[in-house]
Parts: sequence; structure tokens; C-alpha cells
Amino acid sequence: MTEFICRPGGSVRGDIRVPGDKSISHRAIILASIAEGVSDISGFLQGEDSLNTIRAFRQMGVEIERDRDRVTVTGSGLHGLKPAPADLDVGNSGTAMRLLLGLLAGQKFDSRLIGDASLSSRPMQRVLAPLQRMGAVIESEPGGRAPLQVRGGRPLAAIDYDMPVASAQVKSCLLLAGLYASGETRVHEPAPTRDHSERMLRGFGCEVKSADAEISMHGGQVLRACDIDIPADISSAAFFMVAASIAPASDIRLQHVGINPTRTGVIDILRLMGADIEIMTQRVIGGEPVADIRIRHAELRGVDIPTSLVPLAIDEFPVLFVAAACAEGVTRLSGAEELRVKESDRIQAMADGLAGLGIETEVLPDGIIIQGSRIGGGTVDSHGDHRIAMAFSVAALAATAAIRILDCANVNTSFPDFVGLAQLAGLRIRINDG
Ligand code: S3P
Repeated sequence: MTEFICRPGGSVRGDIRVPGDKSISHRAIILASIAEGVSDISGFLQGEDSLNTIRAFRQMGVEIERDRDRVTVTGSGLHGLKPAPADLDVGNSGTAMRLLLGLLAGQKFDSRLIGDASLSSRPMQRVLAPLQRMGAVIESEPGGRAPLQVRGGRPLAAIDYDMPVASAQVKSCLLLAGLYASGETRVHEPAPTRDHSERMLRGFGCEVKSADAEISMHGGQVLRACDIDIPADISSAAFFMVAASIAPASDIRLQHVGINPTRTGVIDILRLMGADIEIMTQRVIGGEPVADIRIRHAELRGVDIPTSLVPLAIDEFPVLFVAAACAEGVTRLSGAEELRVKESDRIQAMADGLAGLGIETEVLPDGIIIQGSRIGGGTVDSHGDHRIAMAFSVAALAATAAIRILDCANVNTSFPDFVGLAQLAGLRIRINDG
């Protein structure tokens, strides 16, 4: 069982680059695999989640070479994937499972998608229902859970779909299925969600329209190989943004961070709380906005988090709750029930962990109320959720005593060598692989 032991105090300083964006890394492999020609990818996330996606496409016959964060994919074309000789195991990754499901629904062959215990308990009905409306045949465990058996060779027809949840995974799943469908697939979003799929599909030469919360695309479009430079993941950068904000004397620069406006809710929320964040040298790399970000220590205050920012910061709430625990006053979050179906129930897991460190919270069905005060020491359970483990590592910077964090191995799904980079920046963290 991997534990993190974090001594209290310290500050974060320096100039670091966190690993590549997880969402973009998955999409780069998926789209390059079904494109015509050779795509070179740089800045690829060498985390377990995105490496599992590479393995899945290799199982389907795609030639993929990797040298650290550089990946070369020789695309098989829209109809060139081959049946995998075994189950496709996507481990902990909801993104891989939901996006692959859309793609596999349109293939001529059968496939079986499996994941770990956490992923096998997460809801898949949100993608199964619209895919079935398109004509897909997929068998699931009771309640629409994985393992998922996809029956190939079913003709798909485009649908016009009003998404009941604001989910980029559902949208992307349907766009991928839509590539194999007759007609124009249309997806309406109840609120803006990350648009990496749309941007990257355009980069591969597809025509994708986005207007008035509707994303639409014709099936049968050929993807042409293209090179992709993946920025650093803002979701990983967020741990250092909060770390620098809460630890006195901190001043850190995060290089080459993706600042796609559908992902920057964490910056907006931290700024509302009084954080000192400077966005420097903005540029556009391969269709995605990128910048260096400087964060200095600041006194934070509690806020009511605007509901409109929830989907734009959905993965950053564990560490934002740590910021709230260190802030002066009360922070309130609502409209975030989606947090309950992430890699863990992130509302309950964070509330339990914070309570163990002496922070008062009130759990709501769709959010949490956090009373800022002094963080104490203690043992917290990450429930195998990478972002919970990293959030509590950051909390130690402002704690009065050591924090021991249980079940941390899954940090490798999104942030390989988090501990090494965190030590370099100034966190007093070590791994206990007992
Ligand atoms: C992701 C979308 C979000 C996010 C996840 C990655 C993606 O999930 O939480 O970590 O890459 O599309 P939802 O689509 O369920 O909101």
C-alpha cells in the first residue's frame, strides 16, 4: 500500500513543468489511431491512464512507438482498426472508457471494455443510452456498469442529443460514434465543457461546428494525420497553484500550461479567493492556448463558488477544498453533484479527510460548505483517488503537524513522479511503500 508522509510547513518556489494534459493525451492517441498517415505527438502524459489508451490501440493493431513523452502513431484509418485479441483494460480512466465506447460502437467487430474496481462502479448509462439510440448494441453489468461488451457491425445513425449532464466525456463519445454514423450528429450542452475533442478533430481536418451550445459533425469524415504538442495539464498545475497560494513565502512559475477557457475555472475561483496569479506569455500551440503561470503566496478568503464555474473546474475541487480550508471565512459550493461519481465520491472523501484534520465541513447532496481554519495533522484516506491524494499532500504546507495519506498508488494515473516534482518545489513529502 503506497502512502505519502507529509511533514508540515515549507514553501514552494522555482520554475517547473508539470506533465502533459491527460484529456488531450487520450484524444491524441485515439484520433491519430484512426487518421490516415503518421502523427507525431510530443508532451504526452506518461501516466497509467494514457499509457493504457496506447495499449488498447496497439491491441487493435495500430502501430504506436513511444520514447518517453514523444509518441509516433501510424494511423490505421477510419475503418482500419482490428479486433483486439483480449479485453481492452482501461484501468482507472473514465475518459478512456467512455470515449472508446463511442469509437468501438462504430466498428465492424466485437470488443470488451474493462476497468479497475473504481471505474467498474462508475455510471456508464450516460453514454450507453445515447449510443443505443444511435443503434449501438452494448451489454453492461446491472445499473449500466462495466465490464461493457460492445457488439460490432451495427449501422449507426446520427442523433440530435440534449445532454442531461454537462460532460465532455459524453459529448466526445457521441462525436466519435458520430464519425461512424450516417447523417449529422448534434450534441447540446447544458453548460460549456472542455472542447479538446472539437479542437483536435478540426486539427485532423474534420469539419465540426460549435454554435449556441450545440456541437455538430457529419459522419464518414476522413482524418488526416497531424502533429500534436500537448501542453502541461492545468489539472496537475492546480496543485502547485494552491500550494503556492497557501504557503507563506511561495513564488513559483509553472511552464507551458494549457489555459483552454473550458479548463480555467480553477484560476477564476482562486482569484475570487484573493490568489495572486499572473498569466504570462500567452500563445496558441496546435490549436490550444498555452501560458506560463506565476503564483505567489496570498491571504485567501472564503467565497460562494459561482455555479457557472463548476464544469470549468470539475477536476480541481479536491485541491480547491484545501484552499478553502486555509481561507479566512466560509466557502460554499453547490451544483457539483458530478463530484460524487468521479474516481471516488470526492465530496465525501474530502469532507472525511478534512474532518480528520480538524476542519469543519457540511456535506450537501451537490456540494460542500467549508469553514476555513487551521489545518491539523492526522491520517487521511485518499480512497485510491489520485487527486484526493495530491490535494492532501498540498494541505500539509499549511498544517500544524504531519499528514499521512493512504492508498496513493493511483497518483501515477495522472501525475507520474508527483512526489519528485513536489519535493523539488518544496513540499516535505516522501513515499512509504510499506
Ligand atoms: C474529461 C472530462 C471530465 C473530467 C475528466 C476528463 C475528459 O469528465 O472530469 O477528468 O477528458 O473529457 P466528465 O465528462 O464526466 O465531466
